[in-house]
Amino acid sequence: MIYTLTLNPALDYVIDVPDLQIGKLNRIQSEHILYGGKGINVSVMLKELGLESICLGFIAGFTGKEFQKGIRDHLQIKEKFIELKQGRTRINLKLLGKEETEINGIGPIIHTKDFKQLQQQLCGLENKDILILSGSIPSSLSSDAYAKLLASIKEKDICIVVDASGDALLQTLPYRPYLIKPNLNELEELFHQSLQSEQEIIACAKLLQKQGAKNILVSLGKDGAILLNEHHRFFTQKANKGIVKNSAGAGDSMVAGFIAGVCSGMKDEDRLALAVAAGSATAFAYGIAAIKEVEKQRKQLPSC
Ligand SMILES: Nc1ncnc2c1ncn2[C@@H]1O[C@H](COP(=O)(O)OP(=O)(O)OP(=O)(O)O)[C@@H](O)[C@H]1O
Ligand SMILES: [Mg+2]
Repeated sequence: MIYTLTLNPALDYVIDVPDLQIGKLNRIQSEHILYGGKGINVSVMLKELGLESICLGFIAGFTGKEFQKGIRDHLQIKEKFIELKQGRTRINLKLLGKEETEINGIGPIIHTKDFKQLQQQLCGLENKDILILSGSIPSSLSSDAYAKLLASIKEKDICIVVDASGDALLQTLPYRPYLIKPNLNELEELFHQSLQSEQEIIACAKLLQKQGAKNILVSLGKDGAILLNEHHRFFTQKANKGIVKNSAGAGDSMVAGFIAGVCSGMKDEDRLALAVAAGSATAFAYGIAAIKEVEKQRKQLPSC
């Protein structure tokens, strides 16, 4: 089974206020509620690609109940969220207008006993399961929270994927994640330098490999991605050109694409191609792209 973890999910309240006037009464032109979180995005794309997954994470309060219902009934994805006794799942406001404004909620406090419950839940994973850890760590947990979770399952043969930045990512490397997916910015921040050439990017990826990561997928936004595989070979894949509607979730879709490639036994270059196609399809769509769009992108991919 594939599990995705979202420590701090959110109901995204997306409203369109074309002529926003601060300090005045404004009327909304359209509104949507979306089920936000990087792990959730990965699960949505996996479903598009024909793979079942289970969403894990913490929810709380009435917004948490609505979130859970949305994942189950609306997205039709399985979940095993842990319900916190206090606080509420955050609501993130995304205000569309002449300019996009985002106001993110705080989210509930995750106490030590709640975190232990998550560790116990992960102990129930079985050999060959896939665990995808995506996104930042909430402020009520320490930056080594992902590392602690991986420590609790280190005896098992779980395929671990980490899509995180900074210390949260670095501290997971001793647990030998099968895949990490930094974007170029995140890679530059890790090494405190700007990376101009493919060689420089690969050199940094090799250093992360030395620290324990098996496969390193560096996403380069509109320029596609570079994969350094566990046999120290690298592959590059350019992305198609297109009109970006909303690039949020492109990285999550890319992770799902790569894992779908792994699950169907594809060669590294084909996994990379599917990953880039899934990322671009989402960048060119509102929300996470549908499978038809991913297939269209894959067929049109430029050769490198
Ligand atoms: N403007 C774009 N044009 C074409 N493809 C894109 C574009 N932006 C992203 N993609 C595709 O999506 C992949 C992941 O994008 P990106 O590098 O922006 O990830 P990210 O920064 O981790 O995204 P996220 O916001 O989801 O965390 C890219 O490798 C590429 O395949
Ligand atoms: Mg990302």
